[in-house]
Amino acid sequence: MSSRKLIKLGAIIQGVGAHIGLWRHLDTPADASVNLEFYKQQAQIAEAGKFDLVFIADGLYINEQSIPHFLNRFEPVTILSALAAVTSKIGLVGTLSSSYSEPFNVARQFASLDHISGGRAGWNVVTSPLEGSAWNFGKKSHPSHPTRYRIAEEFIEVTRGLWDSWEDDAFIRNKETGEFFDQSKLHTLHHKGEFFAVQGPLNISRSKQGQPIIFQAGSSEAGKNLAAKSADAVLTEHASIEDAISFYRDVKDRAKAYGRAVDDIAILHGIGVIVGRSQEEAVSKYEEIANLVTIERALDQLGRFFDHHDFSQYPLDQQFPELGELGNNSHKSSADRIKRLALENKLTLRQVALRSVSPPGEFIGTPEHIADLIQLYYEKEAADGFFIQSVTPKALEEFVELVVPILQERGLYRIEYEEDTLRGNLGLTIPPNRYTVNSARYRS
Ligand SMILES: Cc1cc2nc3c(=O)[nH]c(=O)nc-3n(C[C@H](O)[C@H](O)[C@H](O)COP(=O)(O)O)c2cc1C
Repeated sequence: MSSRKLIKLGAIIQGVGAHIGLWRHLDTPADASVNLEFYKQQAQIAEAGKFDLVFIADGLYINEQSIPHFLNRFEPVTILSALAAVTSKIGLVGTLSSSYSEPFNVARQFASLDHISGGRAGWNVVTSPLEGSAWNFGKKSHPSHPTRYRIAEEFIEVTRGLWDSWEDDAFIRNKETGEFFDQSKLHTLHHKGEFFAVQGPLNISRSKQGQPIIFQAGSSEAGKNLAAKSADAVLTEHASIEDAISFYRDVKDRAKAYGRAVDDIAILHGIGVIVGRSQEEAVSKYEEIANLVTIERALDQLGRFFDHHDFSQYPLDQQFPELGELGNNSHKSSADRIKRLALENKLTLRQVALRSVSPPGEFIGTPEHIADLIQLYYEKEAADGFFIQSVTPKALEEFVELVVPILQERGLYRIEYEEDTLRGNLGLTIPPNRYTVNSARYRS
């Protein structure tokens, strides 16, 4: 069976957790978000489970309401470089904002990570939802949602152009003749676009996987178009299998419309996992986590999806308030989903807040239950793979120990890595250097 036919798995390593109360759990190292040993352990557990990749999310603005993990955490490329040294096969994917970075820096950072790791780097291109990010970068205002996506599109184009600065055999390094490189194989980009002017060339060569893998994580119309056009893989989250199937079809259809093959883009669905020996044990682990949060804190957390809107001004036990356009220039797709769920299920503000902090997800249960659901999503074409988000401190460990062997027995998941690059394990081909392809030498 080719690697394309197998389920892909990623692990989100998130220090003290995406859940605001998880840091208080007895099994969570309270400094996990800045604890190298913790990150190393999690990456090695994921690698023992033959995961395709580990993923480090990021943001560029905090305030007193931010979740504990966001307040004090590693910068993604830096921690991934450290993880490259203590792993050998697993992909290393990190977020870097296209709204508040320069393509030259980003191209260079990920190319360096790609060399350091032997071809395992991936860049999650995000358009930075939080308005406050502007204040940390000397900008007068946060660019609008459509503008951020236009910037992202040009950003990726420039970055990819820079990554091709050197043809694969450009460095001769002949000590006897004194030839260090072949000048005909060095290319200058000369990009002048709407948002960026970048001359090039980049001061680092291509790596074993050609170029780092591009991930995309927005689910709005603009996000889906960007993914379909430019991404190798998509990170997404959906509340139901129906939503996941329609997203999957939509993005694959858009990719086809851009002239790409459906297998050129992998869609990975984020799932919050709690494994129990019985369903009751899993539910009691969930309740233990949910009870670590007060309603005041839950309101703060809900506000995050609406650009830190203050929800304490509304009555708790009445219908969720009408928010109009709020959230449209921030976490748009998550904000839309919360508004829709509240309306469809006639939820109160208290219910929405508690659910948004501790979503009672489907992937809570016995190893068989979780494996069955993963198989169902995969077979129904709701996802090509999954991002495992640890809802409890030991969720990743338990997933690797108890769920992975079931998926392997069913022939759905690899027993050994097929390759030692992220691109190879994802079943994606190496993009030829654009200049090599176009050069007369290779055309004849
Ligand atoms: C699964 C997932 C992971 C994301 N990871 C990040 C991240 O690490 N950093 C970030 O700033 N935004 C992240 N985002 C936000 C998106 O990049 C995007 O800015 C936001 O979702 C708004 O765009 P949209 O309306 O297209 O969804 C993530 C979104 C999703 C769905």
